[in-house]
Amino acid sequence: MDTDRKRTVLVVEDDVSMQKVLSLSMQKMDHKCAIAKNGREALDLLESGDVAPDAILLDIRMPIMSGLAALPKIRALLPTVPVIMLTAFGDLETGLAAMKAGAFDYLVKPSSLEKIREALEKAFSYRDIMEMKAEEERKMAQRRLELEKQVESSYQELGDVYKKLKKINLQTAYALAETIEAKDRYTQGHCERVRWLSSLIGKTMRLPDEEIEQLEYAALLHDIGKIGIPDSILNKEGPLDEKERHIIRMHPIIGAQILSTVEFFKRAAAAVRHHHERWDGKGYPDRVEGEHIDHLARIIALADTFDAMATSRAYRTALSFGEVVQEIHRMRGTQFAPDVVDVFFAAGLDTTYFKKLQEEADKKKDKS
Ligand SMILES: [Fe+2]
Repeated sequence: MDTDRKRTVLVVEDDVSMQKVLSLSMQKMDHKCAIAKNGREALDLLESGDVAPDAILLDIRMPIMSGLAALPKIRALLPTVPVIMLTAFGDLETGLAAMKAGAFDYLVKPSSLEKIREALEKAFSYRDIMEMKAEEERKMAQRRLELEKQVESSYQELGDVYKKLKKINLQTAYALAETIEAKDRYTQGHCERVRWLSSLIGKTMRLPDEEIEQLEYAALLHDIGKIGIPDSILNKEGPLDEKERHIIRMHPIIGAQILSTVEFFKRAAAAVRHHHERWDGKGYPDRVEGEHIDHLARIIALADTFDAMATSRAYRTALSFGEVVQEIHRMRGTQFAPDVVDVFFAAGLDTTYFKKLQEEADKKKDKS
């Protein structure tokens, strides 16, 4: 801050002889001086910006607008400019009241040059400190604004990276799902339909978005463990023997192991492990029961079985719409979680499903 520059003092005084005395004093101290005859004139000068004072000498008693009336307006307009009140001898109380109202100091008229100099020096020091503080605050506000912009832009970049990552994860999941379907010729489109149907159930049950996302991955990849099952067992026409059944029942464990190696799929891995558990505890691989079954797995269990019954498999042809609906109702509370079955039918998802199946069949017909 340049403290050697010439200072400007605004003298607000109605008495002409006093104006001359003070103006002369300013000249002697090598300060620039501006004069206003009353509070109103002073405010006009300050508001127009014609005068930018480093300190103001403000008489208390003046016509039109007194010093006491002008003081709060000046303080509001220029909060860092110190105001020194000029009081008449014997009017100290008014001077003190003005200080309480925000004046920096007061001088009793007539004051010696030395007293005026002393008061002004103090006022200028105060003014310099206040200006420095204001400058610091301006810089800090600017820095804060810059930081906010940086954070916002980093957040945006992170969001873009996250979107890309999600896209890659989804592509990976679909590629894996295709690998399963390539092994099992009867399950074409099954994984995608189970994902679609599970997602509809989850949304109807108002699961949070993050859970829906993991539910979709788990549903799409629920049979990923079949990668580890020999083709001869997967595509066997006719019933499986005890040993073969044991092997095929390993697929939820293998699937969960595969997915748990990827951090992003850890939540989905738990759902995959339990997609063949039953509400009555007679499922596999862990024979968990009721509410202890992973809640995403309960949804996938219904979607998986529903789609399996409604489409043809190696060992049987598809059931009719009525038969599938009847079977699901029959297995409410034994194989399936009652609340999942209830939500499924209440939302009419059975009809929605068969409409989709019909549309897919029509598309196939059109292509051939
Ligand atoms: Fe399965």
